Amino acid sequence: MNRHSDWSSTIQQRLQRQQQQQRQRQLHAYAVAGEGLLRDQASGQTLINFSGNDYLGLSQHPQLLAALAGNNGNNHENTVGSGASRLVTGTRPEHAALEQALAELFERDAALCFSSGFVANLSILQALVRRHDVLLLDKLSHASLIDGGQLADGNLLRYRHGDVNDCREQLQHSSKTGLRVIASDGVFSMAGDQAPVRALVALAKAEQALLIIDDAHGIGVLGDQGLGLLQQEGLDQDAIPLLIGTFGKSFGLAGAFVTGTQTLIDYLRNVCRGLIYSTAPPPPLVQAQLTALKLLQTESWRRNKLHTNIAWFVEQASRAGVPLLPSSSAIQPLLLGDNQRALLAQETLRQQGLLVVAIRPPTVPEGTARLRITLSALHSEQQLRQLLDALAKLELSA
Ligand SMILES: Cc1ncc(COP(=O)(O)O)c(C=O)c1O
Repeated sequence: MNRHSDWSSTIQQRLQRQQQQQRQRQLHAYAVAGEGLLRDQASGQTLINFSGNDYLGLSQHPQLLAALAGNNGNNHENTVGSGASRLVTGTRPEHAALEQALAELFERDAALCFSSGFVANLSILQALVRRHDVLLLDKLSHASLIDGGQLADGNLLRYRHGDVNDCREQLQHSSKTGLRVIASDGVFSMAGDQAPVRALVALAKAEQALLIIDDAHGIGVLGDQGLGLLQQEGLDQDAIPLLIGTFGKSFGLAGAFVTGTQTLIDYLRNVCRGLIYSTAPPPPLVQAQLTALKLLQTESWRRNKLHTNIAWFVEQASRAGVPLLPSSSAIQPLLLGDNQRALLAQETLRQQGLLVVAIRPPTVPEGTARLRITLSALHSEQQLRQLLDALAKLELSA
């Protein structure tokens, strides 16, 4: 007799469990309908998008579109794909130019590009944290850091969110023999708050641990030139030897990078499985990434506009009694707690033409479902006002 239930009913049961917990996910197709606007393909409704990561509004930039079309004066020899992994024959002049530009811009020795931030985090942590090594991660770390830690052979420890003392205690009680690594998001993706980077730097120095910051949501937004949380805090390569960033958020594209000391980058180039065993990013995309780096410097008005929007929204929300979580980044969450309540709020806003997606467990801890509002340089004051008015009413009726 077969003791196993058939695979189809097992998967069906798992899916039903997702449904019962109000965790079921659906894909909606949205067409771009103008600056900051999306049109729901199914219903035809046009919505103001408050749930994207295109913080600077670069995703529709003509120069990026031209670069992706191979239309920027460079000769891509009519290739779209790179045809091989980086270490075989897939490295093109575009990859080399991008890595050099990243190292120069972030004032680090060298850089390495990846196909996505998720892949970068998986492979970097797997490469660095080996048997007898210890990795410390913040409890609210992005899924890709957690999965990278689980993929690694070393001991994964999680400290309370933003709690450097807890991190210190766990580090001091851990093995002293292997490498010790601390990794944290710079700006936390679902809360919008910032890691206590200065205190983490002091701890890492005192404990001779390697500190890695993934500033996916800080780069483009924070710092005098938009170079992120580390620029805002004046932390150089000596303080933070590895900095990870993505092209999927402020740069309006896709792909990612790591930049840091020559030794670390040389090591990662030799060991990262997500680099070695994966096709190199398409050269036109890499050319667009290079262009986006330039736009970050030449179109600083985008960052200024974003900050005007953030300041206006935070202040007006406070006046209107809308209790946003404390955040000075583009991510401005409204905690609602219960999954059902968050879904209801999402629906109420949607009926008013406002797209704010409810974020539920397991993306956030149980009982902390929220509306993750994101602001962009593309939003007008009138659009922000519309959202705020709707949120204020939501709160009153909750
Ligand atoms: C902190 C953080 N790291 C990494 C990633 C993954 O980056 P990508 O979208 O390039 O895969 C994300 C994206 O959500 C993120 O928030």
